[in-house]
Formats: sequence, structure tokens, C-alpha cells
Amino acid sequence: MLKATLLKAAGSPTLQRQVTRNPLARRVAARFIAGATLDHALAVTRELNARGMAVALDHLGENTESEAQAREAAAAYLVALDRITEDGLDANISVKLTALGLDLSPALALEEASRVAARAKEAGAMLGVDMESSAYTDRTLQAVRALKDSYDTVGVCLQAYLYRTPADLERLNRWQVPVRLVKGAYMEPPELAYPAKRDVDRAYARLLEPLFKANPYPMVATHDPDLIRLAKAVAARLGRDRGSFEFQMLYGVRRDLQAQVVREGYRLRLYVPYGSQWYPYFMRRLAERPANLYFFLTQLARR
Ligand code: FDA
Repeated sequence: MLKATLLKAAGSPTLQRQVTRNPLARRVAARFIAGATLDHALAVTRELNARGMAVALDHLGENTESEAQAREAAAAYLVALDRITEDGLDANISVKLTALGLDLSPALALEEASRVAARAKEAGAMLGVDMESSAYTDRTLQAVRALKDSYDTVGVCLQAYLYRTPADLERLNRWQVPVRLVKGAYMEPPELAYPAKRDVDRAYARLLEPLFKANPYPMVATHDPDLIRLAKAVAARLGRDRGSFEFQMLYGVRRDLQAQVVREGYRLRLYVPYGSQWYPYFMRRLAERPANLYFFLTQLARR
């Protein structure tokens, strides 16, 4: 119930204005967001690289409403890729196709994504495509299929909570597209997605086998210690080399677990968001864990 309310609030422009102006909200959000600028994000990347962690940079923004905004979003990624190369950082990038204009036209989003994919390929970095709500799943996978024809450095996210995901994973394995597996962060109807967390966790566990068996580069993106343990076991049983897959976690979430995975000698990449459009991302992080909301509200009440 609380989760659904927060996810609904993530789409409210009025709340967005109020929350992003609130200094306390900005302070709490800073736990999950590297900063407002690329320079902030690169400083965080340098620090994480020094601690043995790779990075996926996410220039915050989604559901852009004009072609100019979509082109600006793509341009921001081109600059980020140039800086990653110049500074010799261990980082790639992650994009949302609605930031590149998917709501306006799939052709525009594909054109902009291709520009970014071309630069990512030059930089030797993967272009990770985030998965948004189920309204975009088909269009996202179609774009990824088209990108894959020209760029072998494109990967995509799949969400375990969707009933369709086993079939999508099979297709992506056939296309040899690297897959980042997550539980799923949007509000979805019970016709399309498991409503109960327990069922989502089980669905995630079942997907690990086909992921490690047939995917060229599995990316296990979760902070769930049971699933991380299971993924390690499946990888070992199937004889996967530790360099042929990676774990991924979000900047600011479960730092203890992040350090542990690195200590054990596994590859770990942190998803590092930056930029001024942090509101929907922040609300999804609150929705994932009521304790975050509690912390935010107690800080507000203390004022
Ligand atoms: P779960 O929610 O069960 O959490 C496990 C434990 O992690 C919790 O008990 C808690 O300790 C900790 N934790 C989890 N979330 C927390 C939070 N917000 N604050 C504090 N602690 C928290 N989703 C999507 O729909 N599309 C996408 O493209 C992506 N991309 C993506 C990339 C990466 C690298 C990650 C790690 C995640 C995503 N996600 C995503 C988000 C994903 O769908 C999911 O909502 C979160 O990862 C939370 O689920 P967990 O798997 O961590 O499990």
C-alpha cells in the first residue's frame, strides 16, 4: 500500500516541485545520488574504482517531453563517455530510452541511442539499457535488438517480477545480448507482474539458471544476500569464470554487502546516478524500503 502510494507519487509533477526544493529531501537523496554534475559523478567513480568497484553512470532523467531534451540527454552521455576515456576510469553508462525520447517516437529514441552506442563502442564501454515500466518493455527490447545489429556492446535490464521475463530472457540469450537481472521497481498490475515479494524473489531465483547457462555476460543486480549466494553457487556449478559475469548494486545501498562481494574476489559494478532530475529515482528508492521513508520523515519532523 505504502509502496504503491510512493510509486504513484513518483509520477506527480506537483510533488516533484515541492520535494526537489526541500533542503532535507535533498540531503536524504544525496545518499543515493552522486551529485548534480558530471564532475561530482566522476569524483565518486574515482573513489569507487580505488576500492575495486566498477561503475555504471546514469545521467538522471526520464520521460522527456521534447526532442531538444532528448538530444540534450544523449549529448550528456557523449560527454560522460569522453570523460570516462580521458580520465581512464573503469565505468560504463546506463540509459533510459524515455530520456532519449521514447515517449515522443521510437525512431528518435533509437537514433539518439545509436549515437550513444557508437561512442560507447569507441570507448570500449557497455551501453546498459534500463528497463522502465511494462508500457515500454516491447519498445525497449525492439530498440535493443536493432542496436545489437550494429553494436555488440549493448546490454539490457530484465525485471523478474514480470511474468513475461523467462521468455524475454530466452530471446536475449538467443540474440547474445548481456542481461542485467533485477527484481523490478515500478508499479505493475497483477495481470502482468507478481504482486507478492516472495513470488518475485522465487522468480528471480529461477531465472539465474538460464541466465548463467546461456547469457554472454550475466549482470546480477540485487542487494538480496540469499540471491547473491545462490548466484555464486549457480555460477560455480555451471563452471562460469568469475570474469564472465558481474554483480551490480546501487550507489548508497548495502555498502557492507558491496565490500564483501569485492573482498571475495567477484566483479562488482555500482550504479551511480547524477544530475538534477533525481525525484522519480529517489521516490523508487524510498518505495523499496519503508525505513528510508521513516528516516526522511523523522528528519523532517525534527526541524
Ligand atoms: P530487496 O528489495 O529484497 O532488498 C534486499 C535488501 O537490500 C533489503 O533488505 C535492504 O537491506 C536492501 N535494500 C534494497 N533496496 C534498498 C533501498 N532503496 N534502500 C536501502 N536499502 C535497500 N529496476 C528496474 O525496474 N529497472 C532497472 O533498469 C533497474 N536497474 C537497476 C540497476 C541496478 C544495478 C540495481 C541494483 C537495481 C536496479 N533496479 C532496476 C532496481 C531493482 O528493480 C530493485 O527495485 C532494487 O534493486 C531493490 O531490490 P533488491 O534486489 O535489492 O531486493
